[in-house]
Amino acid sequence: METHKHLIITLDGPAGAGKSTVAKHLAKLLGISYLDTGAMYRALTLKALRLGIKFDDEKILTDLAKNTVIDFTEMPDGSLHVRLDGEDVALDIRSLEVTNNTFYAARTAGVRELMVGWQKEIGLKHSIVTDGRDQGTVVFPKADFKFYMDANFEERVQRRLKELQEAGKAVDAGQLKKDMQDRDQKDFTRAVGPLKKAGDAIVIDSTHLSIQQTVEEIMKHIQI
Ligand code: DC
Repeated sequence: METHKHLIITLDGPAGAGKSTVAKHLAKLLGISYLDTGAMYRALTLKALRLGIKFDDEKILTDLAKNTVIDFTEMPDGSLHVRLDGEDVALDIRSLEVTNNTFYAARTAGVRELMVGWQKEIGLKHSIVTDGRDQGTVVFPKADFKFYMDANFEERVQRRLKELQEAGKAVDAGQLKKDMQDRDQKDFTRAVGPLKKAGDAIVIDSTHLSIQQTVEEIMKHIQI
């Protein structure tokens, strides 16, 4: 179902709702690009960690973002890898340390302003399926199709657990649950760009759906 029309499809929702996997499938089906906006906040966090920068100083973090180039490079298999100042950091940004510290960048207004600007630019140049927390509300309020993907908390924890185990990472299930509760709380309550369903987004509850079923459910709403 490839299209020549310029398309913006937003997929927002909490961690572990399956957004990135579903977004990748959708983008492939539609023959357009997948934008992983979480990877951008993660990349900046990785840089701050490497430099030993104070996360709780919003000015320092914003200045760091101003002096950083975050972009994506297409791999031979068609997937997009995030680059930090030219370096492919697709693997490094998935570490637990990055995951647990990304909320600092995500809550910093100056950082969000820059990220939102970069994301809008990408959306002007490319047709995209974009996943994040504020894509349908702040970044692309006029998107062609907006979805809010959710799943119950236990199911999201189980999915994340499986994902980490499959990647060969040692995980403490109880700790993971606490970390995810904490991330949810931070995502929903930050002052800028909080996770929120856009008024005109279609809610997709994937609790009892496989990836394939979720993609099919979303595709039912996409008329191009
Ligand atoms: O989707 P993810 O787990 O890779 O996101 C990493 C972090 O970045 C998470 O704490 C939420 C935040 N984020 C955000 O604030 N805005 C976005 N558009 C995407 C992610």
